[in-house]
Amino acid sequence: MTQQHLPALVIGNWKMNGSLTANTALLESLRRDIASFGHVNVSVCPPFPYLAHSVALLAKSPISCTAQNLCHEAVGAYTGEVSASMLADVGCRYVLAGHSERRGLFGDSSERVAAKARQALNAGLTPIVCVGETLAQREIGLTEATLAAQLLPTLAGLSIADLEKVVLAYEPVWAIGTGHVATAQQITSVLRYLRQLVADTTGADKVARAMPVLYGGSVNPTSAVWLAQLPEVSGVLVGGAALKAEDFSEICRSFGQR
Ligand code: 13P
Repeated sequence: MTQQHLPALVIGNWKMNGSLTANTALLESLRRDIASFGHVNVSVCPPFPYLAHSVALLAKSPISCTAQNLCHEAVGAYTGEVSASMLADVGCRYVLAGHSERRGLFGDSSERVAAKARQALNAGLTPIVCVGETLAQREIGLTEATLAAQLLPTLAGLSIADLEKVVLAYEPVWAIGTGHVATAQQITSVLRYLRQLVADTTGADKVARAMPVLYGGSVNPTSAVWLAQLPEVSGVLVGGAALKAEDFSEICRSFGQR
């Protein structure tokens, strides 16, 4: 199953990093560089307190904001949580659901991730549903089973029309923050598997083929050059390198000029 051609999506996940001063410098640098990026869809994920500020700094620029997380409920007595409608209200376009750090450190189950994706869609946001296996799971041959278990609850709650608005991200846990990028073969194999899983589960072959699937895990300017050449890869979810303006711009250029 080959992917339809869309502009690549390059997302910078800042995780729990940044300050008003640092964010301003980073975003001003990206705004200066954007003319050199080419045909690419760029988004950044500031922490919650900085979202509105970043949206304002990016006004009239094609760079959008993505939230790193959201609440699985729509509104009410959920102290400390942030709803999908609030994220939409302050101008976010995308929201991550099920990043491995949320799953691993904060107990987000696959059912909860499904509820988060549902809330995102209800609020008009595009959910970026993240999946990925640990090294132990890969080594005992459980990669595909793990990814299926993570994704099936989300797929079960979505209509075909919903599916058209979903982005997937494959981030092997062993590749995140380790400097070990998955190989081209590993990435191609998993991305094909994910699109096939969506097609087999929903019967929506065309939607599955068109569904953007990102890769994440130690992406840097060097790996972005070959990642951008992989036809299955719709874009990248960048962590550490997204905090360095030069590196992130370089990654955007690799995907914008492919
Ligand atoms: P690194 O690029 O730092 O490995 O992080 C990847 C990631 O988790 C992006 O969401």
